[in-house]
Amino acid sequence: MIWVTVPLGDRSYPVLVGDGVRAELASVLPAGTRRVAVVTQAHLGMTVDPGVEHRVFHIGDGEEHKTMGTVERLCSELAAWGLSRADCIVGLGGGLVTDVAGFTASVYHRGLPVVHVPTSLLGQIDAAIGGKTGVNLPEGKNLVGTYWQPSAVLCDTAVLATLPPREYRCGLGELAKYHWLGGGRLDDLPLDERVAACVRIKADVVASDEREGGRRAILNYGHTLAHAIETAGHHELRHGEAVAIGLVYAAELAHRLGRIDAAAVTEHRRVVGAYDLPSALPPGLSDDELLALFGRDKKATRQVTFVLDGPDGVEPVVGIDESDLRSTLDLIRGP
Ligand SMILES: NC(=O)c1ccc[n+]([C@@H]2O[C@H](COP(=O)([O-])OP(=O)(O)OC[C@H]3O[C@@H](n4cnc5c(N)ncnc54)[C@H](O)[C@@H]3O)[C@@H](O)[C@H]2O)c1
Repeated sequence: MIWVTVPLGDRSYPVLVGDGVRAELASVLPAGTRRVAVVTQAHLGMTVDPGVEHRVFHIGDGEEHKTMGTVERLCSELAAWGLSRADCIVGLGGGLVTDVAGFTASVYHRGLPVVHVPTSLLGQIDAAIGGKTGVNLPEGKNLVGTYWQPSAVLCDTAVLATLPPREYRCGLGELAKYHWLGGGRLDDLPLDERVAACVRIKADVVASDEREGGRRAILNYGHTLAHAIETAGHHELRHGEAVAIGLVYAAELAHRLGRIDAAAVTEHRRVVGAYDLPSALPPGLSDDELLALFGRDKKATRQVTFVLDGPDGVEPVVGIDESDLRSTLDLIRGP
């Protein structure tokens, strides 16, 4: 079992990584927890034992269920059971479940503790770590949310065995970015150590910038193009796959701007290929459409911001010429 701490002063918390660590749930609950509401999805068929009285509450599968409606229904069910601030919520599932469980924990009774037991690779290396919660509106994804740090996170790598292969690959798309955020050759590590290395990087970034005022933006490496591809309506590509294409684009762009050498670009392409992820733009996306969407990325402030690798590592870069953005798109178009 690997133990990582997210260091946030009196809100610091442990992340346990390893085969079977969900059995540690009882030991990481806040002292004095009376009852536990386990929020999960029925089809997952997974259980946890909090060692105190508990009940299971199901939410639906798919982004269309990550809504205020789901949160309201869940809050009503918790109230009907009489859940109070002496109790705790456990989110057992992928990023959708931990986002809904975390958001609900932050608003129900003005906030009660939550422990996450992420079951997808993306959940373990990203969504469950760092305290961001969010639900979707018809107007867009994750438009309503809170910062609400969990009391603990249990990344049980045994549960990843049942993750559908495409979901696993999508997690790898997000994992790939950590290679350039200090992770190095993560693909050489056994699974537990690889997950723990990503958790350590995310913990470190979150600790230095909990509310995304600056450094946390580097976690968006590869995401500007990814968001543009997704917004342009290419939903046949999943988020992690779009991020992989975005990482290759960011590498080619950094090379064009003289920030990294050709070998670094080759390494980006190698990692994306090694994870069996796409590196070419899907057909049918025009430069004009993508450039317009770069400008609308919600993480961009005034002008187009790209998170790029460079001599000082990965960092946000502003003021890139449109001609460089355009000609780099040619380098990632398929044959
Ligand atoms: N809060 C954050 O910081 C943050 C960061 C990244 C992503 N997210 C959010 O996370 C969500 C995506 O997370 P995701 O990729 O885990 O999607 P998801 O939670 O929808 O899970 C994908 C699918 O895999 C299933 N699944 C999960 N674990 C499984 C397992 N062990 N075995 C079998 N099936 C399993 C789920 O039921 C679902 O059908 C998005 O809503 C995104 O906005 C949040």
